[in-house]
Amino acid sequence: MKLFLTVTALGTALLVMGSGVAWAQGDGKDLYMNKCATCHGPDGNAKTAMGRKLKVKAAQAVVGSMSVEAMTKIVADGKGPDMDAYGKQFKPEQIKALVDYYRSLGK
Ligand code: HEC
Repeated sequence: MKLFLTVTALGTALLVMGSGVAWAQGDGKDLYMNKCATCHGPDGNAKTAMGRKLKVKAAQAVVGSMSVEAMTKIVADGKGPDMDAYGKQFKPEQIKALVDYYRSLGK
């Protein structure tokens, strides 16, 4: 019985660690899909109901003319009435991952 409990505890610990690793790797994409895709579209082209309504530009159209720094600032501080500030919700490295992912969609 004691052995069983130890094995179970170890298994749970490994499971938690395992999902932590998966989360870290898929970070930018997962966050983007959960938090940004409603407006910016899963592929960045903003052709969603919200994207159209708010006239969000396609990633493909902005990546060339906007720097990483400018995008990081917009994601952290927000812009206009519809683009929220995510600086409080996400850590700097998560914002970096989001900007990286968003830019990769625009290429
Ligand atoms: C409620 C809809 C909405 C959500 C959700 C949203 N955005 Fe935006 N986003 C906008 C709008 C609208 C703009 C354009 C703001 C402007 O130029 O006035 C924008 C602008 C941007 C820009 C600047 C480049 C551009 O396309 O104009 C970046 C980068 C960006 N968003 C990233 C993100 C990321 C990353 C997330 C998720 C954490 C996110 N957005 C979530 C609506 C949204």
